[in-house]
Amino acid sequence: MRNYIGVKDLGNLNNAVKEALKIKGNPFAYKHLGENKTLLMVFFNASLRTRLSTQKAAMNLGMNVMVLDINQGAWKLETERGVVMDGDKPEHMLEAIPVMAQYCDIIAVRAFAQFESKEEDYQEKVLRQFIKYSGKPVISMEGSCSHPLQALADMITIEEFKKVTRPKVVLTWAPHPKALPQAVANSFAEFMNEADVDFTITHPEGYALSPQFSGNAIIEYDQDKAFEGADFIYAKNWSAFEDPNYGSVLSKDMSWTVNSQKMSLSNNAFFMHCLPVRRNMIVSDEVIESPQSIVVQEAKNREFSAQLVLKRMLEAL
Ligand code: CP
Repeated sequence: MRNYIGVKDLGNLNNAVKEALKIKGNPFAYKHLGENKTLLMVFFNASLRTRLSTQKAAMNLGMNVMVLDINQGAWKLETERGVVMDGDKPEHMLEAIPVMAQYCDIIAVRAFAQFESKEEDYQEKVLRQFIKYSGKPVISMEGSCSHPLQALADMITIEEFKKVTRPKVVLTWAPHPKALPQAVANSFAEFMNEADVDFTITHPEGYALSPQFSGNAIIEYDQDKAFEGADFIYAKNWSAFEDPNYGSVLSKDMSWTVNSQKMSLSNNAFFMHCLPVRRNMIVSDEVIESPQSIVVQEAKNREFSAQLVLKRMLEAL
């Protein structure tokens, strides 16, 4: 594998999930692969799970790991060519990326949506610059429109917990006080459309995801109806995608919060969320603390989604 920015980079998704579960069964079996190899993790945005799980995955593979927090201890980076750099950004990406690449074998990058230009966000402008100017394999640790490490962990988790061959999986929008990117929802939808599941997305009108990601999912505006018979409920907030509201909060309707009454409409569904989650906005205390909540197990699988990707990249170096 050269780069990891979406489901297509995995090839056959079933095989990828099987391989990740094999790694989970014996995480240190491939420790030789990473000997004398270095992963550089570059964060333009905060993280808990991605930071720790990706670092752990690299350590399981015997790699050295370096972490750079842009904006906290590193020079702020200019991303636009042609800018007169007389502001607060003393270094340009066009020098910084090739320099970073000198010190590592694989680069992982987190760079969220800016919400200034939908076109630039959906072109993954920062990630694409790393791919173009580093000459190294690049992993998305959440880009501006996708979060493929999270979605692979979600897929692994569904495979582990499913009780029927083809479960009903529901992605539900839920309220949040701030404008969040569509990245997690996009990647979850992208992966579910490749998986052997019945997939429904439920959201208030105005919150349609990019068709590039929602694909052939069933869209249901009635959340209660969507929950009927569901085996997995995946909650997430996202801001509007469609113009002219791109990046806007159109609703904070608390009737969309996932609570026990709503979960009772499902087929005793498992509750999933990528975390961090705002309790009693996205999900009630009761639901996230219930035995059906598998958010911690889901977070654990972030380690093995990252390890699968790193393993495949190391094998291809
Ligand atoms: N789910 C996830 O990516 O968590 P972090 O933002 O904490 O890394």
